[in-house]
Amino acid sequence: MDFFPAHLTQYIEQHSTHEDPVLAALNRETHLKHLLPQMVSGHQQGLLLELLSSLLRPKQILEIGTFTGYSAICLAKGLAEGGVLHTIDINRELEDITAKYYALSGMENKIKQYFGAAADIIPSLPGIFDLVFIDADKINYALYYDLIFDRVPQGGFILVDNVLWSGKVADAAAGDKDTEALKAFNLKIAADERVTQLILSVRDGITLIRKN
Ligand SMILES: C[S@@+](CC[C@H](N)C(=O)[O-])C[C@H]1O[C@@H](n2cnc3c(N)ncnc32)[C@H](O)[C@@H]1O
Repeated sequence: MDFFPAHLTQYIEQHSTHEDPVLAALNRETHLKHLLPQMVSGHQQGLLLELLSSLLRPKQILEIGTFTGYSAICLAKGLAEGGVLHTIDINRELEDITAKYYALSGMENKIKQYFGAAADIIPSLPGIFDLVFIDADKINYALYYDLIFDRVPQGGFILVDNVLWSGKVADAAAGDKDTEALKAFNLKIAADERVTQLILSVRDGITLIRKN
């Protein structure tokens, strides 16, 4: 899910902080054992998530779409003292790898893992979310945005992954279900006057949204 030239990605990663060894092991294990390993955030995006989270120092983070836990660990690194990251994935088979790496990274007390459909679980979670990362099924991005919007305080941030969808969102001829959902989602955010947003051309595109 990265259409940026491979040699430039390599250059960026060589000249950025090296990948944390626990995250590097998780990245490797994800590629060895999982179908669609390209879903993992990886080095460059993981660092971006860690740095943004560190800037915001959130007390509560919500992640929608855990996969093997890479982005959850990166985001949790920026939590305020005593803060918690809630993360949801529909695939219970991920439990072994996520639990293993939360422990190896020392994050097991900061990350609360939930398994099930995000739309069912989100309403049952307590409190407000200073930071939300939407990275699950593309077809439901707009639903997730609507479900969490009132739970984000003024000045809180929502990050949304894969918004460029390998460039297909800017291709009028591309019309598969996921591309259509992402095109509609990007239009919805562009028209939402309650927020300030920027699509970052990092990896597969990440929208950085601030609630005004
Ligand atoms: C792109 S991956 C997440 C990658 C992860 N955030 C990272 O950066 O390493 C998307 C995940 O969303 C999960 N997912 C798909 N549909 C879902 C749903 N309805 N509710 C919760 N999770 C879902 C998938 O099982 C998959 O693990």
